[in-house]
Amino acid sequence: MCGIVGYVGPKATVDVLIGGLRRLEYRGYDSAGVAVVADGQLETRKKAGKLVNLEHEIAEHPLPKAHIGIGHTRWATHGAPTDGNAHPHLGGPAQKLALIHNGIIENFAELKAELLAEGTNFASETDTEVAAHLIARAFEQSGDLKAAFASVMNRLHGAFTILVVHQDQPDVVLAARRNAPLVIGLGDGENFLGSDVAAFVEHTKRAVSVGQDEIVVLKADSVEVFGFDGTPVNFTEFEVNWDASAASKGGWPSFMAKEIADQPQAIADTLMGRVRADGRVVLDDIQQMSTEQIREIDRIIIVACGTASYAGDVAKYAIEKWARIPVQVELSHEFRYRNPIVTQNTLVLAISQSGETMDTLMAIRYAQELGAKVFAICNTQGATLARESDAVIYTHAGPEVAVASTKALTSQIVAGYMLALALAEARGAMTEDARLALGRELLQLPASVSEVLANIDQASALGTAHANAKSVLFLGRNVGYPIAMEGALKLKEIAYIHAEGFAAGELKHGPIALIEEGQPVIVIVPSPNDVDSLHPKVVSNIQEIRARGAKVIAIAEAGDETVSQYAESVIFVPKTDSIMAAVLDVIPLQAFALALSTAKGLDVDQPRNLAKSVTVE
Ligand code: G6P
Repeated sequence: MCGIVGYVGPKATVDVLIGGLRRLEYRGYDSAGVAVVADGQLETRKKAGKLVNLEHEIAEHPLPKAHIGIGHTRWATHGAPTDGNAHPHLGGPAQKLALIHNGIIENFAELKAELLAEGTNFASETDTEVAAHLIARAFEQSGDLKAAFASVMNRLHGAFTILVVHQDQPDVVLAARRNAPLVIGLGDGENFLGSDVAAFVEHTKRAVSVGQDEIVVLKADSVEVFGFDGTPVNFTEFEVNWDASAASKGGWPSFMAKEIADQPQAIADTLMGRVRADGRVVLDDIQQMSTEQIREIDRIIIVACGTASYAGDVAKYAIEKWARIPVQVELSHEFRYRNPIVTQNTLVLAISQSGETMDTLMAIRYAQELGAKVFAICNTQGATLARESDAVIYTHAGPEVAVASTKALTSQIVAGYMLALALAEARGAMTEDARLALGRELLQLPASVSEVLANIDQASALGTAHANAKSVLFLGRNVGYPIAMEGALKLKEIAYIHAEGFAAGELKHGPIALIEEGQPVIVIVPSPNDVDSLHPKVVSNIQEIRARGAKVIAIAEAGDETVSQYAESVIFVPKTDSIMAAVLDVIPLQAFALALSTAKGLDVDQPRNLAKSVTVE
């Protein structure tokens, strides 16, 4: 959703704010704006469209040198993405206060009616502007900015991270959070605020995650945190393990291209210290749960959205096969509102790159109310999901900036495999030999992913060649099924073409009617050596669609020569365990979508209408 940054300190504030917004632009790019206070004067600049439009605006109308400011990049909810609806919004008739907001103020209509009745003029169609006017009015009445800010925060319903500066208090940024992310960056004689640590990681690695319903009083040499009721809150800092350079393109044409290439490292980092050389998985992350408690789990419900839900689908196959625990995978927003059956022996596993997806947060809060334990697979330190879960298995993929998820997905899948093997050991569900062999296979994955990447030009060339395709279908069985759906999602997200992923066995029950002459179909072919003998069934499916005119691109295991006879093109990936093949099979699909989108001249990293982290329900 929206990205938020705040700064107090000696540096050139506009540069700090724009640098932070650039790293947060993945959160929304409908408009951007900044406010600074210099020489007791509030100044703002804001512009519809991407951050670069704001940069041009500032170049044409420079801002004064300042030591305090706030910045915002927007994903529009209330009000179209226009200059007027861009943040910051100004408060009060004298317009001395500037405010930025991420989230939705659900009771804004009633608050706006109250302000309109008093004669307040509104400059925008946003829900946000009410907060600016209310705080300005309360400050005029009390002369105490912090008290005015807190009193208004207590009146707001919904989800919000709000930052405020006021020209009469030019040394402080006030911030609050409820149901939307906010992290503090602690510097030396300077301090930062951001929607996530990417906003300030080039300046400091000392961070504090702000809790629910907390207010931050940020000055250059002090940081104080209070509850909405004014009670001081103690906070603990953590060290950010992301490298600032990890959040830049590093010479790649797009973040997505870089992040696809990052995958061997991301997977290796996620495995590091968790899988021993002999293949034993030692997942300290879930120690909160005793072996006894793990044995009592009678069901796992995985909740996630988008790409993360496909990681959940793959984890389901692994957990059920290896640990023999029943698993169901649910889209978080469907789970939360259908009165699901959850008991104390249910383990809810939430998967989220950002750890801020509101649908997933609402799902885990609901599960906790019902008494379930919640584990998270999350890529972002200090994220709300990590704070609120009973245990977190961090993926160490580093910052993922492109909206379309790539390295986060493969790291999530690998985390799911490790969890499955740890559960299998605790429950004695497999022989030790079989379990250790799978652990050793996991350790091979980074090298196998590198091999896939070494051959990636083939998938890219196929993507470019399909730039004019109207629709692409994807087929898979077993773990290939969620990978087929992920391949289709990638194309929808970044190439804006119709794409669908099907379970290959379901084809004959309807989707085969879609096949006509020339229809491109990408088929994920299982290993010919798979114990479940799915290979011949998928080969039959390929023949069925070819007979009806489909042009088949197969993703198959190295050495599977039977497939070559039936497909226009075959992309071979190294041999691995049949469930782990999901990690290798998805990579050509990522490259295919990237190349197709690039050939169409589209913005790969920031596709239309989307945001990386969706912090509204
Ligand atoms: C958004 C993004 C998707 C992402 C999904 C879940 O919809 O556009 O790419 O997969 O959110 O995000 P999460 O941060 O929870 O993994």
